[in-house]
Amino acid sequence: MTTAINIEDLREQARRRLPRVVFDYLDGGAEAEVTLRRNRSSFTDIVLTPRILKGGSVDLTLELFGETYSKPFFIGPTGLNGLYWPQGDLHLAAAAERSGVGFTVSTASNTTLEEIAGKSKGPLWFQLYPWGQGAFAEALIDRAQASGYSALVLTVDSLVGGKRERDLRHGFAHEIRIGPRTVLDGLLHPAWLSSVWLGPHRPRLENLLDFVGNSASDSELAEFTRSQRNPEFSWDDVRRIREKWKGPLLIKGIMCPEDAIDAQRAGVDGVIVSNHGGRQLDGAPATIDVLADIIAALDRKFPVLLDGGIRRGSDIVKALTLGAKGVLLGRAPLYGLAAQGEAGVSRALSILEDEMTRTMTFVGARSVSAVSGVNVETRRS
Ligand code: FNR
Repeated sequence: MTTAINIEDLREQARRRLPRVVFDYLDGGAEAEVTLRRNRSSFTDIVLTPRILKGGSVDLTLELFGETYSKPFFIGPTGLNGLYWPQGDLHLAAAAERSGVGFTVSTASNTTLEEIAGKSKGPLWFQLYPWGQGAFAEALIDRAQASGYSALVLTVDSLVGGKRERDLRHGFAHEIRIGPRTVLDGLLHPAWLSSVWLGPHRPRLENLLDFVGNSASDSELAEFTRSQRNPEFSWDDVRRIREKWKGPLLIKGIMCPEDAIDAQRAGVDGVIVSNHGGRQLDGAPATIDVLADIIAALDRKFPVLLDGGIRRGSDIVKALTLGAKGVLLGRAPLYGLAAQGEAGVSRALSILEDEMTRTMTFVGARSVSAVSGVNVETRRS
């Protein structure tokens, strides 16, 4: 396999290794994928001005919630990581730990949150979907607290599912339905078929077995996740979660200043500007386009992170110049995982670190806190 020199190379390797149904689940967005594309094009529209001869070497460390993170980027929460590589969550966690990058475990992980915490020294965050009524959240919060997760990320943009048309065409909804087309698709990708689908670690929604029963089938688990969506979830529920979770609480899925202000009033410790990687509301703005207004509406020190469309180290620098404290990566490490397993995740993280370090030098910023204030011009075509 040729060496991947950028994230797009890893994406291409992933596309070749995965059956179409799986690649499309990973790569796709909602409806016409306008927001998915916008997340990328808005980054490429931003112009960084080079600054020269500032001296010193680049320091990527980030102080957040009283902890020191060695990079200002984290692996964000994604469900069904075991679809790309057997025990994908464990490989993401291991590669993240080795690179000094934080890893966020999804509610929909394919390894239990306890097993991941037992095998990784972190830093680890846990992402909670506000499914069901209070009991579901409470049980998962207790488990995350008991396992030592350092922050809780509450994802609020998924009270209903996005209309993901690639998945609909494949008949994919949290489970792969076996039909003639999927069988053929699998047979054409034998490395994936033998390791993931026919191997000993076929992906299941392991965190949910407590609620559905250990012998639950794939379709029972999928049905459970569908039935647990709670469109009534409100700020009162956020306040209840705030009271229960003792550590830093972040809300993921904020896209406008008004909601960010409400989040701060509800007592959360930070917000993640996110449109779920263009997988929920198609037509929503690019995250990078709403970041500055959200930051301007909040107290100066209130942490704002961002995700969506990050494929280059320079994208991370652009987000930091516009005021983000740090960023979360969604698909970028997953392309690495799907292409080459743990080595591919490490490759994705080192590509981004290398590109980021170069870009910081080019723009004359030597530390994450010094990036803010670098000239950022936005051009619209
Ligand atoms: C996601 N995302 C997501 N978010 C979340 O809070 N819980 C989850 O379980 C998932 N699952 C998930 C699966 C897949 C395949 C993708 C691509 C995304 C959203 C994710 O955390 C993040 O917001 C976006 O992926 C960021 O956009 P990029 O970096 O993928 O462009």
